[in-house]
Amino acid sequence: MAKPIKGFSKLSKEEKIEWLTQQYFRSPEEAQALLRSYWHRDEARQKLHDEFIENTLSNYFLPFGIAPNFLIDGELYAIPMAIEESSVVAAAAKSAQFWLERGGFQTTVIDTVKIGHVHFIYRGEGEALRALFREQKARFFRESETITANMQARGGGIIDLALVDKKGEIPGYYQLEARFETCDSMGANFINSCLEQFAHTLKSILAEADHLDAEAREVEIVMCILSNYTPECLVRSEVRCPIKNLDQESGMRPEDFAQRFARAVQIAEIEPYRATTHNKGIMNGVDAVVIATGNDFRAVESACHTYASRSGQYRSLTHCAIEDGEFRFWIELPLALGTVGGLTRLHPLVKFSLDLLQGPSARNLMRIVASSGLAQNFAALRALVTTGIQQGHMKMHLLNILNQLEATDAEKNAVVDHFRHNVVSHAAAVRKLCELRGISTPDQWESTAKK
Ligand code: MEV
Repeated sequence: MAKPIKGFSKLSKEEKIEWLTQQYFRSPEEAQALLRSYWHRDEARQKLHDEFIENTLSNYFLPFGIAPNFLIDGELYAIPMAIEESSVVAAAAKSAQFWLERGGFQTTVIDTVKIGHVHFIYRGEGEALRALFREQKARFFRESETITANMQARGGGIIDLALVDKKGEIPGYYQLEARFETCDSMGANFINSCLEQFAHTLKSILAEADHLDAEAREVEIVMCILSNYTPECLVRSEVRCPIKNLDQESGMRPEDFAQRFARAVQIAEIEPYRATTHNKGIMNGVDAVVIATGNDFRAVESACHTYASRSGQYRSLTHCAIEDGEFRFWIELPLALGTVGGLTRLHPLVKFSLDLLQGPSARNLMRIVASSGLAQNFAALRALVTTGIQQGHMKMHLLNILNQLEATDAEKNAVVDHFRHNVVSHAAAVRKLCELRGISTPDQWESTAKK
């Protein structure tokens, strides 16, 4: 049984690997060799990655792919995507091509405001607190000027600060709720620094309020933190075309396709079971670009799901309308993204992604990410309401199956060629490979798989 360890983070990388592999692996040498095989050959670059987090042992690769032909607001983009799921990049590229021929994606950045809170407990009179806040509001701005000066020079800063009374929900609970414009940075550090300064200012204001008794001059600061829910940092992306132009390779009539597609969206608007899967498909497209551009996909995920629940029920993030012979399909997403700061200039592939996207502003990245989410959802629904999802998905997954079965390149080519016109399944792929290898039944597979 493994033993607990004290001071693991203080060990050198080699010592960590040694301890870990001795404790948890039957063949420590093999485990060590695997970890080392993923180190970057350039030591300086490896060190850069080592220092992103604590206790780094190696690198964890994700495929980095490109979906070209995204026409967004008249600009043509090749969108970088970091993702492991086989069909996502292909689906994005297919949708991009489809809409390239029909006017592309039109986007609007609705707003870029981010929000943060000082959560605190105050036991004194609410009216006294409100009066102090009104009189000394400017002091909060003044005392955070050393933090906000640079952001202000870039056109951002604190937009507003409000005192919110939440005592109805938790006795004594109030918030200082602040709104921020963080320009091209995601702004988490900036916002949290401002909030911590607001807490100091609040404590000083109350401590100096001689007209209040001792208890009413006390405040319990519970925490100072930005909110990852950013419903005021919102972007919309839309595609539209005459229904007659929705011609399908499946052979379905454009009118029937439009109706079936709109019905699928409608179901996701009212049925949480479907909405969850529907939105998961959207996040396939969103997260892949968010990761490739060095942004925080957990923050984006949580914001999008809260936004999807804003009516009190979890619903679709996309919408569809059929009006006057026209098909319209759009998405609205809260996306707090950055194109400066964080990993953006540190991770070489993040820098590559941003260069590829022509050094976008945060607003432009919002447009691109939302369009990628919309494209992904279009591809998924298009497959679901025509051929079914498995045909395309399994075709993309075929190489994974063949790699699991340790097929050679020649075998892969032959099997892929066979499945151009046949339905892919795991069993069918095994059967085809058996046939190529002259084995009669898959039972004999084990003995020949490593041939
Ligand atoms: C799979 O990763 C995503 C889909 O399930 C999305 C959807 O059903 O809309 C195909």
